[in-house]
Amino acid sequence: MTPSSVQDFIKGIPKAELHLHIEGSFEPELMFKIAKRNGIRIKYQSIEEIKTAYQFDNLQDFLDIYYEGAGVLIHEQDFYDLTWAYLEKIHAENVLHTEIFFDPQTHTDRGIPFETVINGIHHALEDGKTKLGITSKLILCFLRHLNEEAAFATLKSALPFKDWIVGVGLDSSELGHPPSKFQRVFELALKEGFLTVAHAGEEGPAAYVWEALNLLLVSRIDHGNRSLDDDKLVAELVHRNMPLTVCPLSNLKLKVVKDLKDHPLRKMMDAGLLATLNSDDPAYFGGYLTENYLAVAESLNLSKADIYELAVNSFKASFLDEESKNMMIHKVTVYYQQNS
Ligand code: ADE
Ligand code: ZN
Repeated sequence: MTPSSVQDFIKGIPKAELHLHIEGSFEPELMFKIAKRNGIRIKYQSIEEIKTAYQFDNLQDFLDIYYEGAGVLIHEQDFYDLTWAYLEKIHAENVLHTEIFFDPQTHTDRGIPFETVINGIHHALEDGKTKLGITSKLILCFLRHLNEEAAFATLKSALPFKDWIVGVGLDSSELGHPPSKFQRVFELALKEGFLTVAHAGEEGPAAYVWEALNLLLVSRIDHGNRSLDDDKLVAELVHRNMPLTVCPLSNLKLKVVKDLKDHPLRKMMDAGLLATLNSDDPAYFGGYLTENYLAVAESLNLSKADIYELAVNSFKASFLDEESKNMMIHKVTVYYQQNS
């Protein structure tokens, strides 16, 4: 077989996505369509105008626009369409498995019932399995700018849907909202059988990563960039084989890094960290999973061996059972052997 370019190699390699906010995959075209269908006026006149508005200086700038966009989602069908559109996108990119976040409080706070949100997302994920062959898991995120009581109420609403939700996470405005704020909620979630993850070290300090590890007992750290500020923390993450779900285009758009050439991914890999690549909010940050791989491959001069390592990591770090993980990793390895 002719050796392919790194770009073609990236496009074809089987991969998993582990850090994707379904509300962050809401493309302007679909937003307009659903807004019209629901008789909701949005403040932008055109798709171009929306895209121009997507210029952010930090996480909060982005979140303000992201929560506003999600405001047109009303019916179960809207959540189904949102999820289905994402699945069709990743199907074209050889993503075989995805673990997606949803933010129920963004919707329940507008009076949308929890079950409307989860039914729409879950049914699309089921169709993703039967029609596209994509396996998936769903992770409920608590909005950390809201209080503990609201998180407990959200967890309670989720209990009847336990079989559809693999874990709970923590997202939204990081600074000033440390993981410790939700320690008791996460204790209950763990007791109820959920796995835990948390956004930490995106804008917040390494201390928040320590808290996520030691107080929330997370199985993965979402982002984790700032871990590199603390050598002891890096050693601990390596020792625990703790996955980091890294999101390069998000980091660039939210100015977590100035330039992708400064992105810490290479340092993470060299330090022996289990880094994975992810798209976070692709409709807002200019690229789905493959584009994230392509962007860092270019800026950090990654080899096919590096890409192979990242794709293997994506399955290792997933919440699939061991047998499925091994099957998926075997597929990645066969692809690597045939295309290097
Ligand atoms: N919600 C959606 N995207 C997020 C991000 N990158 N950080 C925190 N919360 C989020
Ligand atoms: Zn995120």
